[in-house]
Amino acid sequence: MCSPLLFISLLISLSSITFCFSSNHESISGPTGFKSEIINKESVRSPFHNPNLTRLDRIQNSVRDSFTRHHYLQSLISDKASVNSVESSVWPASGAYVMKYYIGTPAVETYAALDTGSGLTWLQCLPCENCYKQTKVPIYNPAASSSYDEINCHDIKCFQTGIGKCSEDFSCQYELAYVDTSFTRGILSEETVQFSDGLQNVTMKYFVIGCGHNTTLHTVGEGIPGIMGLSMKPESLVTQLSYHKFAYCLGDYDDIDARGYVTFGDAAHITGYTTPMQPFDGDENFPFYFLNLESLSVNNSTLSIPTGTFNLTKDYSSGFMIDSGTTFTLLKKAALNILVDHILQNWQYKNRILDSSNNFQLCYKSNMDNIMSAPVISFHFPGVHLQLPRWNTWVKVAEDIYCLAVLPTDGMSILGSFQQQNYHVGYDLVNHQVSFDFMYCTD
Ligand SMILES: *[C@@H]1O[C@H](CO)[C@@H](O)[C@H](O)[C@H]1NC(C)=O
Ligand SMILES: *[C@@H]1O[C@H](CO)[C@@H](O)[C@H](O)[C@H]1NC(C)=O
Ligand SMILES: *[C@@H]1O[C@H](CO)[C@@H](O)[C@H](O)[C@H]1NC(C)=O
Ligand SMILES: *[C@@H]1O[C@H](CO)[C@@H](O)[C@H](O)[C@H]1NC(C)=O
Ligand SMILES: *[C@@H]1O[C@H](CO)[C@@H](O)[C@H](O)[C@H]1NC(C)=O
Ligand SMILES: *[C@@H]1O[C@H](CO)[C@@H](O)[C@H](O)[C@H]1NC(C)=O
Repeated sequence: MCSPLLFISLLISLSSITFCFSSNHESISGPTGFKSEIINKESVRSPFHNPNLTRLDRIQNSVRDSFTRHHYLQSLISDKASVNSVESSVWPASGAYVMKYYIGTPAVETYAALDTGSGLTWLQCLPCENCYKQTKVPIYNPAASSSYDEINCHDIKCFQTGIGKCSEDFSCQYELAYVDTSFTRGILSEETVQFSDGLQNVTMKYFVIGCGHNTTLHTVGEGIPGIMGLSMKPESLVTQLSYHKFAYCLGDYDDIDARGYVTFGDAAHITGYTTPMQPFDGDENFPFYFLNLESLSVNNSTLSIPTGTFNLTKDYSSGFMIDSGTTFTLLKKAALNILVDHILQNWQYKNRILDSSNNFQLCYKSNMDNIMSAPVISFHFPGVHLQLPRWNTWVKVAEDIYCLAVLPTDGMSILGSFQQQNYHVGYDLVNHQVSFDFMYCTD
């Protein structure tokens, strides 16, 4: 990946902090790896926690956000600006887990949504031509930072990533359009960022970020200051630092004190079972994380879902993506119907109740003990049989009411964070594999 010259300089350099930026000649400095805590945006440990939300509010928000996120990813991947606005909330990572980091000199604390579907790391910046509501964490002021540096048009970094555009004043502008009329627009810049694992801080200098001065996102309530991009695009955190792997463990959705972690580079471990990522049409540079979902089973009996239902197709109307920012898994409607019918035939038909919002396809009036005897759902990938624990399968929507935490879709399918709870999920970017290892996310 490095140019030969850079590689030699790396060998003779005693420090281990030289890295290649993308496949080109620029480098940024940073640690060889690090670990950071992540928290659910809604947990009590998050500055964005809203104590006024009831359980039902929270679940309804997660349902709405899962559909919105699906819509966003679907339009992002098929590279189509969306014409129909389907939802009012189009924050691209609403269901997200957030991570704390420090930015600038002197360093100020901020938060970003961990987003495997995005490349660029960006945050709202002063002065705000347009900002969404952000009150819990101050809006970042680059003028107060001595390490902030706008990338100008003559710098190769402006064009390297494919997202920079030269503006009239020779600054390098970026603009990301989200679904609906949402967008973030600002200046591509270099800045020093720091991450903390609680024991020590690691520093990255010249990290390329988007400083958003004109961002319109129709969020409901408080917005997260920005996004940490973890896709395989050239501008993402993992590519900028040439990290060959990263891993995360997402804490319990239902535990308000839950914690999890994300690890990068040599701090990340690929453990458990692995399955290949799906490149699109053999395109090695396909930047998104798709997996080959071969089949689903219930108590080890394979469902008769037509083979190829989850194959990645040219128009992206099907495919199976793993995502950090979607809460509830979305499955192709026909496949979900087969799953629901199978469970109904085998388990406690008499206790079924209908979800009043009509989003969840299968709900039971049942207590926890009963839920623990529900049939076990597994997702089968080459190399991985992801047997979901009951608490990754059923969401408690009210006292003694549990619903199958899967939503229907006509488009591509997505493995959501609810189904990934307490799995150590590893992304091996060299061997193009994703790993799953069941464990509690205690750090
Ligand atoms: C919660 O409700 C109280 C009383 O209505 C209100 O003052 C407060 O701002 C609300 N908090 C949030 C985070 O919305
Ligand atoms: C913000 O960006 C939008 C879209 O490019 C543009 O129409 C609008 O004029 C900008 N707002 C300001 C205040 O510059
Ligand atoms: C990490 O850096 C931030 C900002 O400079 C500082 O507030 C924090 O105490 C540091 N944490 C550790 C563990 O050194
Ligand atoms: C399914 O089969 C596997 C392998 O034989 C076994 O480990 C697992 O416990 C079975 N699951 C259920 C729900 O019976
Ligand atoms: C789906 O993909 C597999 C290979 O991953 C292939 O063997 C199969 O023919 C495909 N099915 C359809 C319906 O495209
Ligand atoms: C499914 O398997 C689980 C665990 O082996 C068992 O407790 C349950 O009774 C089975 N359910 C059905 C419907 O076979």
